[in-house]
Amino acid sequence: MTTGLSRVTIRGVEQTDYERVLALIDDWWGGRIMSTRLSRVFFEHFGPTGFVAETDGELVGFLLGFVSQTYPGEAYVHFVGVRPDCRRGELGTALYERFFGAAYAQYCSVVRASTSPLNKASVGFHRALGFAIEPGNDEIDGVPVRRDYPVPGESRVQFVRSVAARRDLAPTGLHDLLAC
Ligand SMILES: CC(C)(COP(=O)(O)OP(=O)(O)OC[C@H]1O[C@@H](n2cnc3c(N)ncnc32)[C@H](O)[C@@H]1OP(=O)(O)O)[C@@H](O)C(=O)NCCC(=O)NCCS
Repeated sequence: MTTGLSRVTIRGVEQTDYERVLALIDDWWGGRIMSTRLSRVFFEHFGPTGFVAETDGELVGFLLGFVSQTYPGEAYVHFVGVRPDCRRGELGTALYERFFGAAYAQYCSVVRASTSPLNKASVGFHRALGFAIEPGNDEIDGVPVRRDYPVPGESRVQFVRSVAARRDLAPTGLHDLLAC
């Protein structure tokens, strides 16, 4: 029976994924130059907390994060991206579920992330995932932001969410998704 569903596989990130993500990240961010912020370090040293999603061998999503060395019970998501034609099909959610599982396995109970206040899609996405917005030291468009973060002159909305529930853990690496 033809279902119209395509199978999306989510697996741990590998070093060779760096070039693949580098080649598409600016496009996926709508032309915003993110490639200069994409460090190979995430692919070399944070393998257990990085994931890529593929369908028919093509990259359709990725998430890069790490466990905080300063706060051992906390994990941080640095980048999450889904190919534009695959959005709103729960792939971003599935990538986060894998990350929650990895963070939980490393004894983390808190996950943090941050995003530009101009990135309304990311703000909506993180809110939908159950993240709360942390109080900041400034406000942009009515949203609390941390000023001069992560570098002077920039501001970020900061998110926090607990990872306390078993239901956060994705059981397998295979997801049947409608989007791609
Ligand atoms: C943010 C992003 C990763 C979301 O991926 P996605 O696969 O579309 O997300 P999901 O389908 O799992 O969305 C889950 C929920 O989040 C919310 N959401 C997702 N995209 C949204 C948007 N553009 N506006 C408002 N809410 C949104 C919705 O509530 C959605 O549920 P629904 O589709 O049933 O309404 C994707 O839009 C993306 O890659 N954007 C460009 C890169 C980026 O900005 N990354 C985040 C900063 S690092």
